[in-house]
Amino acid sequence: MPFFKEEDLMSGSVHLSEDGSAVVIVDQTKLPNRTEYLALRTKEDIYDAIKVLAVRGAPAIGICAAYAMYVVSRGKAGMDYEEFAASMQADGEFINSSRPTAVNLSWAIRRQMGVVEAGRGKSTEEIINDLKAGAIAIHREDIEMCGRISEYGLSLVKPGDGILTHCNAGPLATSKYGTAIGPILLGKERGVDFKVFADETRPLLQGARLTSYELEKAGVDVTLICDNMASMVMKNGWVQACFVGCDRIAANGDFANKIGTSGVAILAKHYGIPFYTLGPTSTIDMNCPTGADIRIELREPDEIKTMWYEKPMALPETKCFNPSFDVTDHELLTAIVTDRGIVYPPFDVNLKKLFA
Ligand code: MRU
Repeated sequence: MPFFKEEDLMSGSVHLSEDGSAVVIVDQTKLPNRTEYLALRTKEDIYDAIKVLAVRGAPAIGICAAYAMYVVSRGKAGMDYEEFAASMQADGEFINSSRPTAVNLSWAIRRQMGVVEAGRGKSTEEIINDLKAGAIAIHREDIEMCGRISEYGLSLVKPGDGILTHCNAGPLATSKYGTAIGPILLGKERGVDFKVFADETRPLLQGARLTSYELEKAGVDVTLICDNMASMVMKNGWVQACFVGCDRIAANGDFANKIGTSGVAILAKHYGIPFYTLGPTSTIDMNCPTGADIRIELREPDEIKTMWYEKPMALPETKCFNPSFDVTDHELLTAIVTDRGIVYPPFDVNLKKLFA
C-alpha cells in the first residue's frame, strides 16, 4: 500500500491519503526491517496507532491527531451543528486519552476544536473542509518550525563535532528534518559533517531502530551505543554537545522526554558538555508550571521483560517499573532551541518573553 514512497520518510511519517479518507502512517514499530504503511480510518484506529507507538514522537502525534479530526469529521456530514460539535468533542477526547505526556496531542486536538467552534453558523460540510485546511496548516507549520529549529541548532555546533542524542527526534517523529536530528541533517545538506552517537534507548529502542536508520539513510556518521555507554564516550572526549527532543516543556524550563534523558543531562553536566533540548513552540506548555506537574505515562512490563527476546528475560513474578518518560531539571539545561529562537536561562523569564 505505497501511499508515499520510501524516500518520503525523510519528510515525515504522517500524511493524508489522496482521497482524504485515511491518515496514512509509516508503522514505526516495524522499522528498520520493514517499511509498512497503515491507513487509519476510525478513531479506534488512531487511538491504537498512538498507543502502540506505530505513530510516535510528539510533533508526529500532533500532526496525526490533526488529520484524524478531519478524517473522523467526514462521517458526520449529515449532522446539525450542535450534534456535530458534541460528536467531534467526544472523538477528540477519546483520541487524546491514548497517551498523556506529549502536549502536542491535546494541542492539535484543541486547535481543531477551535476550527469547529469558529464554524458555528456555517454548514457542516464547510466546517469539514476547514478541518482539512486546519490539519494541513499544522503539518506545514511543523515543517517550517523544524527548518528554523535546525538552523538555530546548527549555529551551536562546529563541523566535526561529536553529538550525542537519545531516543528519536528526526523526520519520522516530526516532518522534514526533525528537531534534535534537524541540525545534523541540515548540516549534511550543506556539507557540514558531525559524528553522532545514538543511544539505543531502552526499552523500545527508538535510537537503534529509528535514529540510526534515519542517519544511515542520510549518509551521516552515526555510532550506535547502549544507553549505559554514554558516560564512557563523554569521558573519552568524543561528545561536544547533546541534542535531545522534548514531549512537554514546563513554564520553568523543566521538560519531559524519553526515559533516560535526565541521566544523559546529569552526565553532560559532570563532563562539562552543553546539553540542549530542541522542540517547536507547540511543545511548550505555559499552563504547566514545573516538571512535577507533567503526567508521566507508565507502560507494560512486557516491554522490558519479553519484547525483544525469544524467551522472557525475567521471571513472570518479577515486578517492573516502566515509565515512558522522565523529567529533566531545567538547571541541567544549557538552552532550549525553539522555532522562535534559542532560549537561555532564566527559563521562567525568557519562556514568558517568547510568548509575549
Ligand atoms: O515514546 P516516544 O517514542 O513517543 O517518545 C518520543 C520522545 O521522547 C521524543 O524525544 C520526543 O517526542 C520528541 S520527537 C521530536
